[in-house]
Amino acid sequence: MSSNIRPADMKRINTPELAQAFIDEQVKAVREQVGDKKVLLALSGGVDSSVVAALLIKAIGRQLVCVHVNHGLMRKGESEQVIEVFQNQMDANLIYVDATDRFLALLAGVDEPEQKRKIIGGEFIKVFEEEARKLEGIDFLAQGTIYPDILESDGVKAHHNVGGLPDDFDFQLVEPVRLLFKDEVRCVGHALGLPASMVERQPFPGPGLGVRCLGAITRDRLAALRESDAILREEFAAAGLADRVWQFFTVVPDFRSTGVRDGKRAFDWPVIIRAVNTLDAMTATVPEIDWAVLKKITARILAEVPGVCRVLYDLTPKPMGTIEWE
Ligand code: XMP
Repeated sequence: MSSNIRPADMKRINTPELAQAFIDEQVKAVREQVGDKKVLLALSGGVDSSVVAALLIKAIGRQLVCVHVNHGLMRKGESEQVIEVFQNQMDANLIYVDATDRFLALLAGVDEPEQKRKIIGGEFIKVFEEEARKLEGIDFLAQGTIYPDILESDGVKAHHNVGGLPDDFDFQLVEPVRLLFKDEVRCVGHALGLPASMVERQPFPGPGLGVRCLGAITRDRLAALRESDAILREEFAAAGLADRVWQFFTVVPDFRSTGVRDGKRAFDWPVIIRAVNTLDAMTATVPEIDWAVLKKITARILAEVPGVCRVLYDLTPKPMGTIEWE
């Protein structure tokens, strides 16, 4: 495997032509590295793994085996998009594992944030390992490692919250975007024809909605979280805010408050809207969202999401508050 150091004279990939030249070069390099062997990839649907998948499909087609683990904590439509784009449109060799019940069973009653993260990360590796063991003749493991991962954390994806695969897996690594910065990975993703909604996706934590469904996760609050998040995304996009706000999502706490529904007293969950602007996620400010947009989102969440009777907008910058609530 070649160097993990970005050459000083390497051009910043910021045009379709440069992206295409990079793709051509990597397709050749991957074919040389892999030959007629099979490559395994954990495809989350995030920017990095999606770009690696599209690149490898171009290079080696169905020699790439993608495993998409749905941990039940994906945003609305995300797993469906992975299947649509990679299996249906790109004819990928994709194994889809719906592990929702397994994850939610393990998480039941667990309210400590770090413990929740550990369970999600550990179980993810376990499910992926089980799938890998069912396959035969895999020699290579592809990873969406990008250059900041190498600079910041010894080449381990900092945000994956998972350990590695067991030692008896003796895979050689295929990491075609390891020398690229995020904006370059996006540029390559566009040139590979991936949908903009996938390539321009805002950061999404590995533990997914698990860190936004506060306390012990329950199916009803998880459903309220997923639906309210989808409404927020739709309305931010409609208002032209999707490209202007760095990260935005909803949070559902594990306490209820009193409401009135159809003339009767209700005791339901609140939904908190979190939106931030930042350069590096170390500090963040809260954008001033047009009142009419917030009112529309509030009205839609209250009308369309069962079990919710209150909507709040989080005004807290980082510091003091972190971006996520857990
Ligand atoms: P915080 O909440 O620490 O978040 O201000 C900073 C950025 O990191 C993301 N984040 C995570 N990403 N696994 C991830 O992959 C995690 O456990 C995790 N926690 C926070 C967060 O969404 C924000 O972009």
